[in-house]
Amino acid sequence: MQGYQLEKIWDPVTRLWHWVLVLAVSIGWSFGRFMNFDIIQWHFYIGYLVLGLMVFRFLWGFVGPAPIRYRAFLSTPSETLAYLRGLGRRKASGTPGHNPLGSLSVIAMMSAITFQAVSGLFIESEDFFEYGPLSGYVEQATINRLTWWHRFNADIILILVILHLVAILFYLLWKKENLIKPMINGWKWVKRDDCDTRGTKHTD
Ligand code: HEM
Ligand code: HEM
Repeated sequence: MQGYQLEKIWDPVTRLWHWVLVLAVSIGWSFGRFMNFDIIQWHFYIGYLVLGLMVFRFLWGFVGPAPIRYRAFLSTPSETLAYLRGLGRRKASGTPGHNPLGSLSVIAMMSAITFQAVSGLFIESEDFFEYGPLSGYVEQATINRLTWWHRFNADIILILVILHLVAILFYLLWKKENLIKPMINGWKWVKRDDCDTRGTKHTD
């Protein structure tokens, strides 16, 4: 690809983290929605795993490799607007990390997933007589409110994941940019000539 160079962008830890998260959220979500007496404990265990993954990613954003650090992927509103203006162009963005729009989707997904796992600790299932491990520390009204939010936020997560997949498909089919392969082998076609001063952002 002319003007682009192949670079190692996603490190093995981030890639493994992503695919474990995909499995855990998919299985945990399904075990929640199609819950019964046999799987409710597994729903809890997977929830703890997801919580651990979120804590890890939070810290990884400070100490991990450049492309996944907050400094690299948090964009200003003007950077995001500039990126949006060029979004329709049938040209690979070649961003050496998340593009500004991808960053927003990552932040939204990680916030919703973290809220889901944390709220789970405080709620109860009337149908299956099970309680989150911290539900004894809050009042019944809080348990009821968080249970409602846990159910509601499950739908938000579903919508965000669908949007995530639609965006990836859009890049693949419209912009002819395969983002999935780099999340598997780490290597991505990157365009460095119009980077900003941090060397991480592009505007098209
Ligand atoms: C439950 C389902 C999924 C969840 C919760 C999820 C979540 C995430 C998160 C949080 C990131 C950011 C990674 C980071 O910065 O550390 C990400 C990136 C990514 N995910 Fe997923 N993901 C899901 C499913 C998938 C699937 C099925 C695919 C492939 C078809 C996929 C492909 C990607 C790619 C290519 C990126 C990097 C995007 C970029 O280049 O900016 N994800 N995902
Ligand atoms: C990110 C991780 C999690 C996901 C994706 C998730 C997802 C879900 C879903 C989809 C439901 C069914 C909602 C409905 O339609 O009624 C559910 C219910 C439930 N979850 Fe989670 N959950 C997670 C973490 C946790 C954790 C950590 C706990 C507790 C330790 C927990 C406890 C419960 C309980 C008790 C219910 C039943 C609530 C009711 O009575 O409807 N969840 N969860």
